[in-house]
Amino acid sequence: MLRRLYHEQPASFAFTPANEAWAEAQISKYPEGRQASAIIPLLWRAQEQEGWLTRPAIEHVARRLGMDYIRALEVATFYFMFQLQPVGSVAHFQICGTLSCMICGAEDLIAVCRDKIAPKPFQLSEDGKFSWEEVECLGACANAPMAQIGKDYYEDLTAERFAAIIDELAAGKVPVPGPQNGRYAAEPKSGLTSLTEFESGRAQHNASVQRAVDLGDTIRRIDGTEVPLLTPWRDKGANHAPAPATVRRNDAPVAVTTRTVPAAGNAPEAAPETRPEAAPAEGKRPAALDAPREGKADDLKRIKGIGPKLEKLCNSLGFYHYEQIAGWTPEEVAWVDANLTGFKGRVSRDDWVAQARILAAGGETEFSRRADTGKET
Ligand code: FES
Repeated sequence: MLRRLYHEQPASFAFTPANEAWAEAQISKYPEGRQASAIIPLLWRAQEQEGWLTRPAIEHVARRLGMDYIRALEVATFYFMFQLQPVGSVAHFQICGTLSCMICGAEDLIAVCRDKIAPKPFQLSEDGKFSWEEVECLGACANAPMAQIGKDYYEDLTAERFAAIIDELAAGKVPVPGPQNGRYAAEPKSGLTSLTEFESGRAQHNASVQRAVDLGDTIRRIDGTEVPLLTPWRDKGANHAPAPATVRRNDAPVAVTTRTVPAAGNAPEAAPETRPEAAPAEGKRPAALDAPREGKADDLKRIKGIGPKLEKLCNSLGFYHYEQIAGWTPEEVAWVDANLTGFKGRVSRDDWVAQARILAAGGETEFSRRADTGKET
């Protein structure tokens, strides 16, 4: 489906103060250099706040995460959970039209949408409260046919029950999500055939529905005042800094956060990292080479902590040889630590200099020995 930004856009976007705090907390989940990982929750929050995902909101989130606009736009246009145009002010119905749902009655549900909401997908109902679209499989095939309304799934639908749900929403009620035909979850329609002993002690609703009922935010617009604000990890102590620092990228302020990490050990190259005690970003750039001497670079992957990506990154910065790394001063280590985009702090974390000194002198480290052995096998 062609997904484009809407032709009319608001002039600006800003999170409410409470949503701003929530966004900061989301970003704090990720180590420095990985803030882009928060893209989906932040875009989703922006959509929940505004009702749909506007261009200023996408750009705001991109700036906030230090991403190029196009990267955020790619995410927003890829997932159909993001509404790129205004949708019903009360609810937007996403009807699954894929195989299981289609053979179990999705067309009947779409007929209800056409009849009660609007003839075409994304057309607003006359009162502006509702809109609908057909979507691909939402992963609830065992409870087909189904629809997503707001954040929740309404399953085992019939045309009659679906029409009644629309009426209830129009009347200001929020129908309980989940199976609508009396099923508890996705057990056989004729009832449980095993694990029946758990039937008596279970909660009133299955876990997803119970959570939805407890939170009560199925279709509610998120304005940041809801309780609880779902950021429990922030209170769990040492792993997250209380407030983000601010740097500039894309000509706008971007929040970044730091957190402590456990001792390095043999952490894989891609493992998250940031050391609050890491050297200052300024440092001093070490001498770099345009190309490896005599056209042959050392195998930097024999240094613990350097994998293929980091080796490439080092080479791109002009570092090819153990001897270069072995000679780095603390100031130079600080510079490299701060400029290994995506791998900041790795030089000090794994003490590249000490390793490189041994390797440059023709010696072996325990790691290089293992690396060499691994190559041979
Ligand atoms: S086919 Fe409808 S949820 Fe999978």
